[in-house]
Amino acid sequence: MNYRAFDRLIAGQATSDGAGVRLRRSLGQTQFARLDPFLMLDEFRSDRSDDYIAGFPAHPHRGFETVTYMLAGRMRHKDHLGNEGVIEGGGVQWMTAARGIIHSEMPEQDSGLMHGFQLWINLPAAEKMKDPAWQDIPAAHIPETAIEGGTVRIIAGEFAGTQGAINGVNTEPLYLDVSLQPGSAFELPLPDERNAFIYVFEGSVDNATASGHPSASTGMAAIFSGGDAVKLHAGDDGARFLLLAARPLREPVVQYGPFVMNSREEIEQAILDYQAGRFGR
Ligand code: CO
Repeated sequence: MNYRAFDRLIAGQATSDGAGVRLRRSLGQTQFARLDPFLMLDEFRSDRSDDYIAGFPAHPHRGFETVTYMLAGRMRHKDHLGNEGVIEGGGVQWMTAARGIIHSEMPEQDSGLMHGFQLWINLPAAEKMKDPAWQDIPAAHIPETAIEGGTVRIIAGEFAGTQGAINGVNTEPLYLDVSLQPGSAFELPLPDERNAFIYVFEGSVDNATASGHPSASTGMAAIFSGGDAVKLHAGDDGARFLLLAARPLREPVVQYGPFVMNSREEIEQAILDYQAGRFGR
């Protein structure tokens, strides 16, 4: 086995988005902190309603997918096509903005803990202008597998022979939520043609196979080097982390806020289309 090392650690930075939701951004802090095809990862986690109550009022997206994974709390989404749903603790919304969606994402609570993640995954050029779509997957529909010393929830892709809730995406993303008891090991074959990273949100993990055993602690993303497997060890307090992997697109990325296309001209077109109300059918 050629184990993957931590190639780069990115400490999540406090920021705010939407109408003032406080969050921690790891991937996507800058254009250099991306991992093709992953564009951005935000964690929101607070039991102070002031930190989340303003939510994300109506805003557009074009050219990629947004994946919202809630661990605690309730978030209602509505879009300009008339779709509406509530994501609750343990549930996922997989939203394919493609050629355009205008939606709001608002807390369905005014107190208590709100904890979740939003991941942006790029779409290939050939799919950026397809029709938008979305899926709500309740917690009960996300497979969970016991491993030695922990559990794995399989949001997308396949883990140990179990298919996750989402499949059929072009870049074949693997999206796992891994919980490990203190000192437990986690090992996973991960072919070299996949880009991969983890985001730690409880405890810490160390990269058991690299010299010096570099560690990623709560609030940090660790991007893996090439290789064909990952091996991690949970620290003394255990660990919980998201593991993301996918085939890179290797296409130019031009981002302007919520529009992610391949060229400046396409971004200008996105702005014109949005302003002219052409995001609908
Ligand atoms: Co959005």
